[in-house]
Amino acid sequence: MSTVRFDPARRLQGELRPPADKSISHRSAMLGAMSATPVRVRNYLQADDTISTLNAVRALGARVEGAGDELTVHGVGPSGACQPDGIIDVGNAGTLMRLLPGWLAAQEGRTFTLDGDDSIRRRPVDRIATPLGLMGARIEARDGRLPPFTVRGAPLHAITYELPVASAQIKSAVALAALSAEGETTIVEPAPSRDHTERMLSAAGVPVRREGAGIVIAGGAGTLALDELVVPGDPSSAAFAIAAALLVPGARVVVRGVGTNHTRSGFVRIAQRMGGRIEGELEDDPGAAIPAREPVSDLEVAAGPLRATVVEPDEVPLAIDELPLVALLGCFAEGETVVRGAQELRVKESDRIATVVDGLRGLGADIEATEDGFAVRGTGGLRGGTIASHGDHRLAMLGAVAGLASRDGVEVVGMDAAAVSYPTFEPDVARLL
Ligand code: S3P
Repeated sequence: MSTVRFDPARRLQGELRPPADKSISHRSAMLGAMSATPVRVRNYLQADDTISTLNAVRALGARVEGAGDELTVHGVGPSGACQPDGIIDVGNAGTLMRLLPGWLAAQEGRTFTLDGDDSIRRRPVDRIATPLGLMGARIEARDGRLPPFTVRGAPLHAITYELPVASAQIKSAVALAALSAEGETTIVEPAPSRDHTERMLSAAGVPVRREGAGIVIAGGAGTLALDELVVPGDPSSAAFAIAAALLVPGARVVVRGVGTNHTRSGFVRIAQRMGGRIEGELEDDPGAAIPAREPVSDLEVAAGPLRATVVEPDEVPLAIDELPLVALLGCFAEGETVVRGAQELRVKESDRIATVVDGLRGLGADIEATEDGFAVRGTGGLRGGTIASHGDHRLAMLGAVAGLASRDGVEVVGMDAAAVSYPTFEPDVARLL
């Protein structure tokens, strides 16, 4: 475990290209493996989580050709996953753990066991076991809800499923299973969440449409017609540089090639509402349409005064992974910043309500946890100190950005966790200093 010190930045200037999108990279590897024809993936994220996904699809019989971020996935087709020799190790990757069973559920007569690291063993899988069970698969989990767990594939039938929480992972698991199910599956969302799976299915020629709060997917659609997928820059990784540029006095940073999908740009809209100077082309809400592409833009960010805001529950899924950074901005903003309806933060790589509140308080923040979020009173700055990542990549990078904007600097214990989504975080930051 590495401890890294981030001193207060005297300047922050220049350009940065964030790493490739983690969510979209996971999906491109999985859909590539489900395809009967080769899928070329450009700008695949080379990070711990998405390497776990490549290893998983290899264990299931797919061949991954190429080096670095340019890959070709030679898949085994929708029902051709091999019985792997041992367990499938998902490492720290919740998205892999929750999406892959959607495909595995349809592999008749085959059984798959998934497991991962200590953090993954604390993350619930009953949320996917329930709908996949309703579709005909059998899933057995430790204590009925935790990894390791076993998926027994079976012939699937379509269902109408109301998601108990606005989660793109549950939605996507059901969507992948729906491809092999008999009939038309409808997934009803309590609020819109990231829609990368729907977009990719649409690009692959699968009949998928939106009806009000429901997403309707035709089963038995046959092969996926995917030739090439291009992964945009990850808005969740870009958010760390954006936050740093908003907070370090005099900063001016251009973040290149950021995915601006409406369902992922909630953080930028919240920061703009706080007075943050961010310029670029955010995607408009596509409404009932399911675009087959992922929009991209450069974002220009400049530091300036911020005012507090309230983040309401319907905004939460659109900024879920960036809410720790909203707390950080709140420390510097005038007034009280409140996030509500974010209880899902408790089941991320760490309990992000507890770890963010304890972590920032240890750096001098006036912040308190609530049942479903937090409230932070801006004090115009942050003293600094030491913060632990708890093995959570986003906590590590939160601590780093807090250090750059702090008075005394911040020591991050467990900075190596950043490799899960952003292995080049430290050199990328160093280049802006
Ligand atoms: C993800 C969805 C979100 C997010 C996670 C990635 C995805 O989780 O927090 O980092 O790729 O679908 P939930 O769907 O559980 O909210």
